[in-house]
Amino acid sequence: MTQTLTLARPDDWHVHLRDGEGLAAVAAATARQFARAIVMPNLKPPVTTVAQAKAYRDRILAALPRAAGFTPLMTLYLTEATKPAEIELARRSGLVYGVKYYPAGATTHSEAGVRDLAACNETLRAMEDLGLPLQVHGEVTDPSVDVFDRERVFIERQLIPLILRFPRLKVVLEHITTASAVKFVLTADSTVAATVTPHHLLYNRNAMFQGGLRPHFYCLPILKREEHRQALVKAVTSGNPKFFLGTDSAPHARSAKETACGCAGIYSAHAAIELYAEAFEAAGALDRLEPFASHFGPDFYGLPRNSARITLRREPWEVPSALPFGEDSLVPLRAGEQIAWRLQDFD
Ligand code: NCD
Ligand code: ZN
Repeated sequence: MTQTLTLARPDDWHVHLRDGEGLAAVAAATARQFARAIVMPNLKPPVTTVAQAKAYRDRILAALPRAAGFTPLMTLYLTEATKPAEIELARRSGLVYGVKYYPAGATTHSEAGVRDLAACNETLRAMEDLGLPLQVHGEVTDPSVDVFDRERVFIERQLIPLILRFPRLKVVLEHITTASAVKFVLTADSTVAATVTPHHLLYNRNAMFQGGLRPHFYCLPILKREEHRQALVKAVTSGNPKFFLGTDSAPHARSAKETACGCAGIYSAHAAIELYAEAFEAAGALDRLEPFASHFGPDFYGLPRNSARITLRREPWEVPSALPFGEDSLVPLRAGEQIAWRLQDFD
């Protein structure tokens, strides 16, 4: 049995670092594992301009120890008011690596998102021309569509028409959860890729209802049936470069999760690479972890691969039942349970 696993230092192509009090704790956890991360812009208010992205980047760096060796890759939050000129600024800034499309109302802090994507045509054209990727939250908001079908229906109603209108636009379908999404990504051009989270590889929707209602397994897109989990595992272990690591680690204070109307989001930054290692090992494909975690993301984004390396050791450890989150606390994925792999600290 493999006892240690050494790989190029990975990057996280989709993470929520939040702002203010919680930022330091969660950013440090991400920086401990990953060299770079695509930082989601769904703050309140959202990060819609390059100036705001730069200020947020400065706050992230200020919250980390100098030696963290971590580079935040910023994104802008697409609104119907985002102008092509902002896209040009973003491209020139060297700090912004994509623009996030939230259908308005689809998920946490998406109220300022897009209602009618046609209103963004000129902006999307500028992104296509300048090679700035669009990161997509792929769920319809139509309340008549079953919550478990929202990703599949989004692909049919919105994504396929979008890529037909903008065939050269680089699109990352974020945190995919279904066999439909896998199939869509496989059949699309090389301009289309997807990120996959550790929780969607390790759990199916039963986890939300195991012995009672489990709010810490509630995220969007919601966990799906086992057959979909298996389709995701097959995709990420196939060695296809269109699928790469994006944790969607999305911390919320415990009180915001354990309540009558709890927030969507699962926190995994404390142990993300270890959790991915478990998922790949369970599929007998540990050798496929490195390209998924460390090669395919930078290749898609046109960035160099990291030269530093990390080592994981087979060393079961127990995840704390709660972690600090500013004045509050948060409940991490696997709280109070074991993880089979442990990341070795490096200096
Ligand atoms: C994310 C959050 O909390 O910001 N929540 C989630 O369930 N994934 C938003 C998102 O990525 O959808
Ligand atoms: Zn997210």
